[in-house]
Amino acid sequence: MNDATEQKRPSASAPVTKAVVPAAGLGTRFLPATKATPKEMLPIVDKPAIQYVVEEAVAADLKDVLMITGRSKRSIEDHFDRAYELEEALEAKGDDARLRSVRESSDLAQVHYVRQGEPRGLGHAVLCAEAHVGDNPFAVLLGDDLIESADLLRRMIEVRERRGGSVVALMEVEPEQVSLYGCAGIEPTDEEDVVAVTDLVEKPAPEHAPSRWAIIGRYVCDPAVFPVLHETPPGRGGEIQLTDALRELARRKPEDGGTVHGVLFRGRRYDTGNKADYIRTVVDFACRRPDLADELLPWLRDFVERQDAGRP
Ligand code: G1P
Repeated sequence: MNDATEQKRPSASAPVTKAVVPAAGLGTRFLPATKATPKEMLPIVDKPAIQYVVEEAVAADLKDVLMITGRSKRSIEDHFDRAYELEEALEAKGDDARLRSVRESSDLAQVHYVRQGEPRGLGHAVLCAEAHVGDNPFAVLLGDDLIESADLLRRMIEVRERRGGSVVALMEVEPEQVSLYGCAGIEPTDEEDVVAVTDLVEKPAPEHAPSRWAIIGRYVCDPAVFPVLHETPPGRGGEIQLTDALRELARRKPEDGGTVHGVLFRGRRYDTGNKADYIRTVVDFACRRPDLADELLPWLRDFVERQDAGRP
C-alpha cells in the first residue's frame, strides 16, 4: 500500500481492537426455552454460550466488545456486569472458587451494548455497530459458532493487518451442507491457509455454490463495509445479508476498501444453532472437563450400550 492510499484511508493501517457480537436473534429454534431467556445465555455445561465467544475475542486481544442485542436480552447485560449480592454471599461463605467464576465474566472485557430494534438480518445487525466502530477495522463473532481456540481469529487479524481489506473464516463442508452457509468462490495465494475470495453467495443451492468452502461465523471487516451495507437490499430470506455486502467488497479495488481474503480453518468448530448440534456440543464439552469426565464417560458408554441392546 502506498502512502497516498494510506492518507486517503487512515483505516487501512489501523489495528483491529474491537469485536462485534450480534446477539439480537429471536432464538425461535429453541422455543420455549428462549421465550424469556436469550439463546446466547443457554449454558454449555455451566457457562453461557456467549461467554465463550467473548473469551475468544479477548484471547485475540479484542477487549472492546460491542453486543448487538434486542428485546428480552437484559440477562446478557447482567451476566457481564457485577453481581454484588451474589458476590457478597459467596464471600461471606468463603467460597472463593465460585466467587472467581462469578467475577470472571464481569472482569473479562469492556462490553458495550446497542439494540437492533428490528431484526432485519446479520448485515443490519453489523450496521448497528457503525457509530461505535467508526472508521476502524473490526471483528465480527457469531455466537452460534464456538471455536476452540483464538488462533483462527488471531490469524485473521494478522492477515487483515498485512493484506488490508476484509477477511472471512472458511471451512470445507459436505455439498449437501452448503445451503446452510455463506459460500465462497476462492483462488489460492502464496500462503497455504489464505485464499483470495472472488465471490460470495448466501445459502446457495448445492448446484449454485461457488465451492464447498463455507463462512463460519468469524469475520474481520474493513469499515468500508458500512456504506456498502447501507446500500445492500434485502437478500436471502428478505434480510440484509453481511455476505452480500462482503461480495461487493470482494469486487472492489483495495483503495476503495475492497478485497476479501479467506483463512481456511481445519480445527474444531461447534455449531450450537440447532438442538441436535447444541446437545452434541454440551456432551462434548462436558466429556472433556476433568471434573465431569470420570463420572460422565462410563455412564455415556453404558447408556449407548443399553440403547443398542434395546434396554431402557
Ligand atoms: C450466518 C451467515 C452465513 C454464515 C453462518 C455461519 O447464517 O449469514 O453466511 O455461513 O452464519 O454460521 P445463520 O447461520 O445465522 O443463518
